[in-house]
Amino acid sequence: MTLTYSHVLGTGAYAPSRILTNQELEKLVDTSSAWITERTGIKERRIAADEEATSDMAVEAARQALAMAGTDPAALDMIIVGTISPDMPMPSSAVLVQAKLGATRAFAFDLSAACAGSLYAISIADQFIRSGKAKRVLVVGAEILSRLVDWSDRGSCVLFGDAAGALVMGPTPDPARGFISAHLHSDGSTASMLQIPGGGSRYPQSKDVLAKNMHKIAMNGREIYKFALRVLPEAMLEALAANGLKPGAIDHVISHQANARIVESVVDRLRIPREKCWLNIDRYGNTSSASLPISLDEANRAGKLKEGDLIAMMAIGAGMAWGSALLRW
Ligand code: UT7
Repeated sequence: MTLTYSHVLGTGAYAPSRILTNQELEKLVDTSSAWITERTGIKERRIAADEEATSDMAVEAARQALAMAGTDPAALDMIIVGTISPDMPMPSSAVLVQAKLGATRAFAFDLSAACAGSLYAISIADQFIRSGKAKRVLVVGAEILSRLVDWSDRGSCVLFGDAAGALVMGPTPDPARGFISAHLHSDGSTASMLQIPGGGSRYPQSKDVLAKNMHKIAMNGREIYKFALRVLPEAMLEALAANGLKPGAIDHVISHQANARIVESVVDRLRIPREKCWLNIDRYGNTSSASLPISLDEANRAGKLKEGDLIAMMAIGAGMAWGSALLRW
């Protein structure tokens, strides 16, 4: 039996035009541009227009990825949107994307794994393609976190931004290319480190929930930082070991970007040169599930990814949920 591998056929990205700089944040909360840049690497982030919803941004990124892949939306079998900021609680943003694209054959669903959403979605798409159940899959990470951020909490509001990234995946006949393996993990015992506690079935929307800001992001940044620095190097080594590879084999690191220091510390520990990381957090902040596909798209369009290059992916987010993947470009 010949094995089928999945590969990236096209990438796309979209960021709203409104830029919110660190200097503007200095006027909102007790912070300084220097603190934000030193501690996170962020200089500015994008903020969605009032009339924009998550599916609108997802569609923009998806159209670019579909165009690059030369894929007609009607040929899509499956659409996964990684998001924690869907247009509405029900239905999924993915079905709204499906309708707007005219992807009539595709089944569509949202995936909730926070900042690891795109990595989880890529892994699911890979499995459907390998098993022959799907030939064309659209994976999108799209977030409007500016509407979930507590703009009075300087510890978290300076971090997040709005954007969308997309990839079209399909089978490749070339066994030397495509996704090699993905390694996903979760630890729900750490759920309280990063939450939006209100607005769900535990604490339904109420005046009390609103008054206590429980419908907004609550984060223990320092604990997440420590957790990420423990599990991300482990996940990267797990992916390498599973394939008999060493860190020196990696040509590019395409990572979720929560904090430039996290990404740099992880690669430093693995002795991977920092130049191999695609960093854009200075321009977008933490865009959760959008950040990994946007990074892939930027590196791709910049012509950095050469055929046969080994790409290591890593992501971590609320859950905690995290993982790694290896891809031969
Ligand atoms: O995708 C997953 C989502 N979240 C994350 O990945 C977050 C991961 N964590 C981080 O990126 C970092 O922990 C932060 C950037 C959130 C914070 O950086 P840190 O170096 O861990 O700072 P800290 O929390 O240890 O705080 C140091 C000081 C504190 O003051 P004191 O107690 O030392 O007087 C904070 O109150 O910095 C203060 N601080 C700020 N100061 C200026 C916290 N936020 C700010 C701020 N501006 N925005």
